[in-house]
Amino acid sequence: WPVDESQKWVLMVTAQTPTNIAVIKYWGKRDEKLILPVNDSISVTLDPEHLCTTTTVSVSPAFTQDRMWLNGEEISLSGGRFQSCLREIRSRACDVHDKEKGIKITKKDWDKLHVHIASYNNFPTAAGLASSAAGFACLVFALGKLMNVNEDQSQLSAIARQGSGSACRSLYGGFVKWIMGKDEKGTDSLAVQLADEKHWDELVIIIAVVSSRQKETSSTTGMRDTVETSLLLQHRAKEVVPKRILKMEEAIRNRDFASFAQLTCTDSNQFHAVCLDTCPPIFYMNDTSHRIISLVEKWNRSEGTPQVAYTFDAGPNAVMIARDRKTATLLLQKLLYTFPPNSDADLNSFVLGDKSILKDAGINALEDIEALPPPSEIKGQKYRGDVSYFICTRPGRGPVLLSDETQFLLNPETGLPK
Ligand code: DP6
Repeated sequence: WPVDESQKWVLMVTAQTPTNIAVIKYWGKRDEKLILPVNDSISVTLDPEHLCTTTTVSVSPAFTQDRMWLNGEEISLSGGRFQSCLREIRSRACDVHDKEKGIKITKKDWDKLHVHIASYNNFPTAAGLASSAAGFACLVFALGKLMNVNEDQSQLSAIARQGSGSACRSLYGGFVKWIMGKDEKGTDSLAVQLADEKHWDELVIIIAVVSSRQKETSSTTGMRDTVETSLLLQHRAKEVVPKRILKMEEAIRNRDFASFAQLTCTDSNQFHAVCLDTCPPIFYMNDTSHRIISLVEKWNRSEGTPQVAYTFDAGPNAVMIARDRKTATLLLQKLLYTFPPNSDADLNSFVLGDKSILKDAGINALEDIEALPPPSEIKGQKYRGDVSYFICTRPGRGPVLLSDETQFLLNPETGLPK
């Protein structure tokens, strides 16, 4: 039977999608509208238990327009990127038959039906931790399920890409490559999984959310300026990245940490060099970021082989990848000694995520941080308050559907935020 406005049913789907951190960076577009990059990139998906977006999407004949709420606040869907994702998903919608609820939606009904979307990040959106990547990936994944879209994950990634480039890599867990593609229309610019999260599960990730007063240039604007003005970017995209991608794939395949770390750090540094080569120059890292680089570089050098890799996106936060748990514990001790919290902090909100690493480091209270031995790398100097908080996590899985109604963000009867 046809969809009719008097029918008051609401159908909904809830999904959870991770963020990702690039180890070979995406920076620069060859097509702004379709979001096609100038080089391939590779990322590690972060455990959604600690960093993820949850999105509920719903449809009802009673809805009069598409609406979206982010962290409880209504936001506009009029932007070109939202519109691209909605259009692409709608055009692939199929028949849906919910026998239990007695709902039948045909392929062509989807053109007339409106959706409500509610999204929530389990981490501070303002911290600069790839919230748009998880957000667009989750939106596309959830709508794909709601509308019974019969495309594989890679095809969905090409849609998420049109919301935010890095979002395409959040459709998979583990290690993911975004293939830049050749097609002008972008049909072959999509993500593929290189290895799942179990492939290299010794890795531990520590994120330092660095305090910063200044508002950074957005990735979109920054990379546009870089493409227009940096010759170094052209060299990077043509000569450097293609070879680096092959080496990184090999390092991941062989779980070769020395090579993985060397490539990750070098690529992050080249990305920031390309930003500096932009006119006007873009500075994403600050003194705290530079101190963290120094600490890790000196430690790696003194051990004779890399223990920790670091990488920085379009902001001052450091993402550090430790070769194993023992190394991560030592790293956390060095970081906590060097960047202790302000005296009014509490430990529970200073180290987030997998707190068992904190226990391994022998830290059960703030006083334990003050009792840590000085790390040899940076002569025991302290920079109190320069890191807002740390997050301990690991490589994680890709998107999943949530079936527990208590986790839905929209009211199942009204389709409005709970
Ligand atoms: C530095 O994906 O945020 O994090 O495609 O314009 O939305 P748009 O940009 P975005 O850029 C991410 C850049 C980066 C590197 C990376 O994630 O590869």
